[in-house]
Amino acid sequence: MIKIAPSILSADFSDLREQIGLIEQGGADLVHLDIMDGHFVPNITFGAPVIKKLRKVTKIPFDVHLMIKNPENYIKDFVDAGADIITVHEESTIHLHRVIQQIKSYGVKAAVALNPSTPLESLEYVIDDLDMVLIMTVNPGFGGQSFIPQTKEKIKKLKKMIEDKGLEIDIQVDGGIKLDNIKEVVECGANIIVAGSAIFDTEDIVGTTRKFKNI
Ligand code: DX5
Ligand code: ZN
Repeated sequence: MIKIAPSILSADFSDLREQIGLIEQGGADLVHLDIMDGHFVPNITFGAPVIKKLRKVTKIPFDVHLMIKNPENYIKDFVDAGADIITVHEESTIHLHRVIQQIKSYGVKAAVALNPSTPLESLEYVIDDLDMVLIMTVNPGFGGQSFIPQTKEKIKKLKKMIEDKGLEIDIQVDGGIKLDNIKEVVECGANIIVAGSAIFDTEDIVGTTRKFKNI
């Protein structure tokens, strides 16, 4: 089953309750929440207090993508705010194994994201503990960037790595996914699709979310 996770990074921040209502109506499976600190990535978004308020306006699971340095210092805040999945970047922490265990200790799903230039080999000794791997298909930091084609090979390789190990781990892709390339990434092995601008920069957010669901 393919899941759609609209990223509210491109949503109208003045009315997030309404915007989340629209993707809910369109059948979104997850809400993708991009947390940026201005250090790990050259952009700043929002933090746990915003998620805590949003938790009250929808039942859709929250998929929290941390693009912050030293994520270990903030895991509890995001758990308390209502995160269902927490994704940390491999490049953002020295103690990746420890932070994965920390996330799991709260009963929340743990995921690791890899920047486009980070090899899959960096997951070798932690992959057994993961619920999801996020393959960044753009360099993190901004919505509306172009899909990096080399990442398709990486998704395929990850899919094989997961199958060879007999694991059941979701493969999420994030960045530059549109209605016209979603099929390609799904064929490579991705099963959770993040889309920001392709959903929120359209006139009909409900209809576009539905199209993503039905493709
Ligand atoms: C980028 C974020 C993405 C972003 C994707 O750093 O992680 O989730 O919202 O935006 P689009 O779909 O517009 O590339
Ligand atoms: Zn993201």
